[in-house]
Amino acid sequence: MVGLTHFVVRKTLQEYLPPGRKALWPTEMLNSRRIPYQRAGQSIETRFDDFEAGLCPQLLGNEEGFIRDSISKLRDWGARAIDINMGCPVKRALRHNYGVALMGDPDYAAEITAIAVKYAGELPVSVKLRAAPPPGEARNDETPADPDPDFLKNFCLKIQAAGASWITLHPRTAAQRRKGTADWSQIASLKQVMSIPVIGNGDVQTLEDVERMFEQTGCDRIMIGRALLAKPWLLSEFGRRAPASGTFAAEDPIVSGASYGKFLSRVLELSREHYPEPLGVRRFRFLAYFGSPYLEYGHHFYSSLTSTDTYDGLSRRLLDFFGARFERPQKMASRTSLRY
Ligand SMILES: Cc1cc2nc3c(=O)[nH]c(=O)nc-3n(C[C@H](O)[C@H](O)[C@H](O)COP(=O)(O)O)c2cc1C
Repeated sequence: MVGLTHFVVRKTLQEYLPPGRKALWPTEMLNSRRIPYQRAGQSIETRFDDFEAGLCPQLLGNEEGFIRDSISKLRDWGARAIDINMGCPVKRALRHNYGVALMGDPDYAAEITAIAVKYAGELPVSVKLRAAPPPGEARNDETPADPDPDFLKNFCLKIQAAGASWITLHPRTAAQRRKGTADWSQIASLKQVMSIPVIGNGDVQTLEDVERMFEQTGCDRIMIGRALLAKPWLLSEFGRRAPASGTFAAEDPIVSGASYGKFLSRVLELSREHYPEPLGVRRFRFLAYFGSPYLEYGHHFYSSLTSTDTYDGLSRRLLDFFGARFERPQKMASRTSLRY
């Protein structure tokens, strides 16, 4: 996730994964036109480390040479899998004909997948994509409306035939961006035709949602985006409960803001260690923008963060809000409207 799943956040989140448990850790989307000219660690986006056993860089691209050179670098930097972005709806990606624009041409998308598979060698290649547009809705500015209800299935079957090892579906259309509700029924219908694993994504905020998504869609794995940035303990709760009982608590057992405060403190500590101040402060605020709506006084907390440009300033604001030992009784909701 752009601006969010950078090195420090990945490192902090991984601390919540119970021992012996595995997860895939996508990076921010990386532009294949830039990676070949970068050094490892030169920017926040190219900062990877040994702890990243499930590192899965996500590439934005559509040209063989750039994809080849990017994959070669990413492998050297520790990639364990390569994900191709076919879901990004921003204008810049559409202009270059990658991101969700690739969904406008299934054969072309399959060709890009096959190219990535060829150069990835032993590394698995996956594709992250969006929902099919409902009949009559254009996929992007250039593509015509597609009335074919089987579009998504046919698209994914081509991706599978091109050698993808799994796909991740965020079932919203490009036009929806992150608004409205993710249509999980599209995950379910995809699951019926695919032989490679399908990872379901969209609107999962609680353990109950995790269970519901598994039940309703039959998906093989789940990707959690925004909610994990507010409630990283979903990872440990899920990891601990899943094998024993097979069922999850209806609500997260931990809903105290103190847990969120501890998460932010750890991110801040690692940011100080690894990032120059202005960059680390900006990234920290962006992270808090997505998690703070879960707090009862999240708006107040978030706006306090916007009035400082230093790590010390951020520390003071965390202290003011959560207390030196996180003893202030800040309440946290288990879900929000996800309207951001
Ligand atoms: C700020 C932001 C940046 C994102 N960047 C990416 C990205 O680079 N690549 C990607 O595949 N999805 C990206 N996403 C989409 C998420 O991966 C995910 O599909 C979406 O938020 C729905 O899942 P959620 O409801 O669990 O958040 C981004 C989402 C947000 C909020």
